[in-house]
Amino acid sequence: MHGTDVTALFDLPDEAATQELGKNLAQTLLPGQVIFLEGDLGAGKTTLARAMIRALGHTGPVKSPTYALVEVYVVSSLYLYHFDFYRFESPEEFLDAGFGEYFNEASVCLVEWPDKAVGCVPSPDLRIHLRHAGSARVAELAASSERGASCIRTLASIRAAGNSCATPDLP
Ligand SMILES: Nc1ncnc2c1ncn2[C@@H]1O[C@H](COP(=O)(O)OP(=O)(O)OP(=O)(O)O)[C@@H](O)[C@H]1O
Ligand SMILES: [Mg+2]
Repeated sequence: MHGTDVTALFDLPDEAATQELGKNLAQTLLPGQVIFLEGDLGAGKTTLARAMIRALGHTGPVKSPTYALVEVYVVSSLYLYHFDFYRFESPEEFLDAGFGEYFNEASVCLVEWPDKAVGCVPSPDLRIHLRHAGSARVAELAASSERGASCIRTLASIRAAGNSCATPDLP
């Protein structure tokens, strides 16, 4: 996998800022997109995914897929799969579960703990790494494809239009 040099840093002082970033990210989603959500336990991966899914129009609960491994949504004419591979004991469990089929041009895949399926899960378009910063969080975005780069550029233009409370810090 080759990265691009398109990256962005977002300061997320509180949960509302994480939710705002998720809402803005939802506007950049296209079928076929794969987004990795990385970071320690409690870094805000599910919070971000939940905000994206809600912004796409889902009104019911958005459960963490920690136990089910995947939650499926059909929203805004998209098939959206929200995975969490935290409980994998080996990356091959991804293949055994038949999850490869979910990654196709008609679906959007959000993946928590992708490193637990390393070598088996397909490459992402966008990697979002969340980390603790005191009681706040910081999100580092890195595009791994032109589709991911376009996502980051759209986020930057949403910020420029003044619709976001999250602060991107583009290089
Ligand atoms: N920017 C933020 N500042 C402070 N707290 C936040 C922020 N974003 C999310 N949180 C809080 O962090 C907590 C953990 O979030 P979440 O469950 O989304 O983490 P996670 O990364 O999915 O964890 P896990 O690895 O266990 O799946 C939640 O209580 C949420 O409210
Ligand atoms: Mg989670």
